[in-house]
Amino acid sequence: MSIQTSATTLANGVKMPWLGLGVYQAEKGDEVKNAVLTALQTGYRSIDTASFYDNEESVGEAIQESGVPRNELFITTKLWNNEHGFDEALEAFERSRKKLGVDVVDLYLIHWPVPGMFKETWGALEKLYKDGKVRAIGVSNFTDQHLEELLKTAEITPMVNQVEFHPRLFQKALLEYCQNHDIQLEGWRPLGKGDLLEHDAVKEIADKHGKTPAQVLVRWALQHNVVSIPKSVTAERIRSNAEVFDFELDTKDMDTINGMNENARYGMHPDEFDYASTTK
Ligand SMILES: NC(=O)c1ccc[n+]([C@@H]2O[C@H](COP(=O)([O-])OP(=O)(O)OC[C@H]3O[C@@H](n4cnc5c(N)ncnc54)[C@H](OP(=O)(O)O)[C@@H]3O)[C@@H](O)[C@H]2O)c1
Repeated sequence: MSIQTSATTLANGVKMPWLGLGVYQAEKGDEVKNAVLTALQTGYRSIDTASFYDNEESVGEAIQESGVPRNELFITTKLWNNEHGFDEALEAFERSRKKLGVDVVDLYLIHWPVPGMFKETWGALEKLYKDGKVRAIGVSNFTDQHLEELLKTAEITPMVNQVEFHPRLFQKALLEYCQNHDIQLEGWRPLGKGDLLEHDAVKEIADKHGKTPAQVLVRWALQHNVVSIPKSVTAERIRSNAEVFDFELDTKDMDTINGMNENARYGMHPDEFDYASTTK
């Protein structure tokens, strides 16, 4: 298996790469363009952006310049908190689609479960899906309670839930919930923004396998059947973060890393997010 061929099959049959490049806080312009070009040359086929990241246009330019056939790529973008509502979501999608310079987006996600809004917004994503404008639709930062609430009225079950997921926040119950509902879990901040690379247990396991701590962290997510999207704008890191298909963590390694869980987040808990200031 290689980065180019390794994919999970979503509930609707669409193939989604197990590994993608995250581009949060990759500056629009040369920084994000070079990162995406390096990733695509390395064999990455999945890029995770969002309207909030303010770099969709540059991501679009990079995918055009790369020469990689469109049907080999898997482009994810997300609707920000001030883009909720049925009509607003349709308009937001169109803005993102144009910036990316694509006819169809592979995966469109609701970025955060804005209270009182996400069910109506989901209706718009269902329409985009039925109209063939997106190949898959999903959510991000949804807890099992948010999903329960959404599923009461949803016609289509989200195909993906992208949440914070790494050894300090091993969301086992949410992972099981998603697996039981045929929702692919995708983990953001797999490296703890770099913090987890310094963890002794991770370093020891990396040494044992002759791999880097980053590779061990990505591999841990993949072995839990969680899609991983490490971010880097550094060419050498982009390349090495993808070398995760030539080794396997054994049961002891997995148990050790699972044991690092502290239910601790680097980001916000979805129920404590400052929605008021981000929905304006
Ligand atoms: N849905 C959401 O709400 C949400 C929230 C956060 C993130 N995300 C997505 O998830 C992606 C990943 O999360 P993240 O960007 O927050 O954090 P991350 O991937 O855990 O960590 C990225 C940081 O680690 C550094 N790094 C990467 N590879 C490294 C390596 N091999 N050795 C040393 N340092 C390394 C990067 O530095 P350099 O770039 O300088 O190399 C960057 O500072 C995001 O880019 C975004 O696409 C989604």
